[in-house]
Formats: sequence, C-alpha cells, structure tokens
Amino acid sequence: MSERIDQKNTEEIREQTEHCPNHRLLTRRKFVWYSVFGFLGLWLVATIRFFFPRVLFEPKTRIRIGYPSDYRLGVDTRHRATDRIWVVRDAGTLVVMLAKCTHLGCTPDWKESEHKFKCPCHGSGFDMEGINFEGPASRPLDRLHVELDATGRMVVDKSRVYGVKDWKKPGAFLPV
Ligand code: FES
Repeated sequence: MSERIDQKNTEEIREQTEHCPNHRLLTRRKFVWYSVFGFLGLWLVATIRFFFPRVLFEPKTRIRIGYPSDYRLGVDTRHRATDRIWVVRDAGTLVVMLAKCTHLGCTPDWKESEHKFKCPCHGSGFDMEGINFEGPASRPLDRLHVELDATGRMVVDKSRVYGVKDWKKPGAFLPV
C-alpha cells in the first residue's frame, strides 16, 4: 500500500517538475551553453587548422644511389621500395628503370628465377631490358636520367623520363 503511494507521489513530482517553467528554463539555458561551447569548439579547431595549411610535400626528384661499382651484373632491387627504381647493369651499361608498369601503373616485381619483371595487377611481363613481352602492357618500361656527380657517385633525376625511343640518348644510361 505504502509502495503504491510512494510511486504515485514520485510520478506526481516528476510531472510537476517537467511542467515547471524553471525546468524548461534550465533546459533552454543548457541548450544555449551547449551551442556557445559548440561554436567555440569549432572556432578553436578552425583556428588550429589554419596553422597547418594543406601543403603537398613532393618527394625529391634527384636521388643519389652510390657508385656504379656498388652494383653487380643483373637487376638490383634495393631501391624499389623506397624510390621505385631498379638499377640494371650488364657488361657495358648501367640503366635506372622506373618500377612502374606501363599498363596502369602498378609496381612490378623482379622474378630472379624467371629472369623477368612481372606485374602483379594484370600479369604484364618485361624482360631484363624492360621490353614488354606478355600481358596487356603495350610498351617497354621507362628509364630515368642518370649521371655522375663530381665525386663519381650516381645521381638519378626522376623528373627526366626516357621512353624506348630515347634509350640511346646520353643520360638514359651510363657506360660502365
Ligand atoms: S598495371 Fe601492370 S599489367 Fe596492368
């Protein structure tokens, strides 16, 4: 019996409170404060963001890759992950190839056992010279400009790209 009376009293108090003008005022006041803090929060975020402008940091286009004597005959893959290049050396020349498939731009792998570059995306294959011979790629791999600096170290310029018709140009290879 007394429990029912308590419950009734509680409900009555809740009802009175909800309809009390002060209760609504409190809710409105909270709303205003939330709005003010929300606005200030957004303003603070926008101000902080202002000090970090959207700048695109381009990777360096000129990279030093050491002396020609650092590279043995064959395909050297040590710069593939960091600079996306291979250094390929044969008996008389050294070339720097761009590790970018000429089909849609994936990064091929050098398959030592098969003696070829193989693109994992759609299966294009390139021989050690970079000539395409299987898959959808319609042209050979590109080569990058390479030259020696005053100390005899090789400098690769990634902004100067040689397609197959320019492979004989100075800079597209190094005589070694
Ligand atoms: S991107 Fe290499 S075969 Fe398609």
